[in-house]
Amino acid sequence: MKTIDDLGDLSGKRVLVRSDLNVPLDGTTITDDGRVRASVPTIKRLADQGARVLVVAHLGRPQGEPDPQYSLAPVAARLSELLGSSVRFASDTVGVDARRTADELKDGEVALLENVRFNRGETSKDDAERGAFADQLAALADVFVSDGFGVVHRKQASVYDVARRLPSAVGGLVQAEVEVLRRLTEDPQRPYAVVLGGSKVSDKLGVIDHLMTKADTLLIGGGMVFTFLAAQGHGVGGSLLEEDQIDVARGYLERAAELGVDLVLPTDVVVAPEFKADAPATVVGVEAIPDDQMGLDIGPESAARFAEIVRGARTVFWNGPMGVFEMPAFAAGTKTVAEALTQVDGLSVVGGGDSAAAVRQLGFADDRFGHISTGGGASLEYLEGKTLPGLAVLEEDR
Ligand code: 3PG
Repeated sequence: MKTIDDLGDLSGKRVLVRSDLNVPLDGTTITDDGRVRASVPTIKRLADQGARVLVVAHLGRPQGEPDPQYSLAPVAARLSELLGSSVRFASDTVGVDARRTADELKDGEVALLENVRFNRGETSKDDAERGAFADQLAALADVFVSDGFGVVHRKQASVYDVARRLPSAVGGLVQAEVEVLRRLTEDPQRPYAVVLGGSKVSDKLGVIDHLMTKADTLLIGGGMVFTFLAAQGHGVGGSLLEEDQIDVARGYLERAAELGVDLVLPTDVVVAPEFKADAPATVVGVEAIPDDQMGLDIGPESAARFAEIVRGARTVFWNGPMGVFEMPAFAAGTKTVAEALTQVDGLSVVGGGDSAAAVRQLGFADDRFGHISTGGGASLEYLEGKTLPGLAVLEEDR
């Protein structure tokens, strides 16, 4: 895989950088700018080399046409602040304004193109349609740098097809992310604990399957725990339950036993009658979840046990909150596990998406963890052992 150094002298060259700037917004206010911050070093490095940097990125999932609520304009403003220099914002991705911006950009300047998903070609399943759009993107620049780790699992024009049309290199963020994931899959230091949460078992099937053969302990929390508890024959009241995954969960419990992997489930949970921040919360054993209550967090006994296992591990990967961390009454499980991750003597990795948002929202500084990934889906797919199109394309001989 070529790196930025392999692209030669970039001074005066137009460099198209794919970043993942898909941040959560409340109106036009960015509520977690982690991905913008993580994108800055590569952009800055290129600008410092005198390149004319055109950043291309997406926000949300608009339907292939302009939709003002998904404009990247607020992100351009934040990027300017973080870079300490003005970032020009093009009001389209490959249209008149983008082309003018690309032409007018001076050495060392940075511009951000409007949301790439405002164009149908970006996410099209039709190779020709995607390719035609990638041609337009490629026409804006001389070289391409792939630095949007959160999207390398997507076969999309600005991630995959454009890399086949321009001299391309991997950016520093993608390099760093892949290096950490490699350490999680190839010869990890032991004990190796994997903590999985989030709402759905069906989202985590691949990763459970794959990591079951690599980790020493799998800790399961979050909404998906109730499908496992149902598989063990417990009543789960009104908790989240994927009926069609109960057999799958049972299969995992059996397989873990055969492989000698410790698959740890909570022994107590926090329940409430309603999914509401002020609903009265009670702690019950997992064998005693009342029919008219729903589980919204792992209980204190379970959280303490999870934390002890995490603290004793030398490698930890965590993806998915333990409960409804957005509501203080149901945040303790996630907070306890996050705290334990900060105490690991070894490599602690927080998978992207909800888990990254959770640790920041709960007040943990990024540098207390070994690594906070910017890619939720991408890191899970890597850990499932899948080929990620955005990485594979950079490895092709051209
Ligand atoms: C993410 O938020 O995980 C990435 O930005 C990818 O977004 P997507 O799931 O909409 O492709």
